[in-house]
Amino acid sequence: MPTSHRILRLLRADPDVWISGEELSRQLGVSRSAVWKHIRTLRQEGYDIGASPRKGYRLTQVSPWLLPAEIQEGLRTQRFGKEEVVYFRETDSTNTRAKDLAAGGAPEGTLVIAEAQTGGRGRKGRSWFSPPGEGIYLSMVLRPRISPIEAPKITLIAGIAAAETLLEAFPGLDVHIKWPNDILVGAKKVAGTLTEIASDMDQVAYVVSGMGINVNGRRFPAELKEIASSICVETGCPADRAVLVRSLLERYEKEYMSFLQKGPAPMLDRWKALSRTLGKRIQVDTPQGRRTGTARDLDRDGGLLLEDDQGRMFTIISGDVNPG
Ligand code: BTN
Repeated sequence: MPTSHRILRLLRADPDVWISGEELSRQLGVSRSAVWKHIRTLRQEGYDIGASPRKGYRLTQVSPWLLPAEIQEGLRTQRFGKEEVVYFRETDSTNTRAKDLAAGGAPEGTLVIAEAQTGGRGRKGRSWFSPPGEGIYLSMVLRPRISPIEAPKITLIAGIAAAETLLEAFPGLDVHIKWPNDILVGAKKVAGTLTEIASDMDQVAYVVSGMGINVNGRRFPAELKEIASSICVETGCPADRAVLVRSLLERYEKEYMSFLQKGPAPMLDRWKALSRTLGKRIQVDTPQGRRTGTARDLDRDGGLLLEDDQGRMFTIISGDVNPG
């Protein structure tokens, strides 16, 4: 652990207590001028650290950024975000970064997180609005031993984790999932997931599971105003992004491990309970054309079962769902 993080840990232990420079230098085995340099680094990272010539140092405010030290503080996971957290103030797309890392052998649980994305990607070649410091933009490297046909289930698991995280943090919020991956509050989208895989014919090599959550933003570009919202807009108050990321990682890991160990049935039931799509009349634009009917169920692979007006059943594997 870098020395600056060890200093942070000592300061965090009791924020009401001043710790002298001498004490820090003794505990960490570094000089007092080195302590001072690390304090300066921490301040540059957004930590508010009080300094008094007689009393020493005191942590008055943690950093507002989603720094690895903030995410990992008290994180209760085995692998997700535990070993490797790659942090960017700005990057093109965390999914692109995570794919590069995965192709280079990054282990399962490697987390890529950014304050802003200049080329945030959504499904179907769309872009994902990613202004600095307002949202959560993260991607996880996964290495499940599953066949490529099972990979869409990872999208469902990511959606469940995101929806349940929001429900737990904001009880009473009207959170639902629109098939396959839109997280809605009321009728507006607050989060989405983007799953990308690398595989051969019968085995997945890696999955990059990306999530974007609109947390504290209040303004959206004109084309999103009617369809997008944020947690802050919906609840009326800013939310602590680091707390949400930790809770998301913990839930996501639990759901994912349960899927690998027990199979998809429990996860599919949870998805159905959170669904805003099932039972509704819908219209889906699929690669085979537009289909209209009633969304009846999910199949075992996460495909959407749609019954058209002639009573014929179709399995939709990909597409955009709209009211029918
Ligand atoms: C969608 O609803 O279309 C999916 C949106 C996924 C956005 C996230 S933000 C973090 C990760 N990096 C990306 O470029 N996209 C995903």
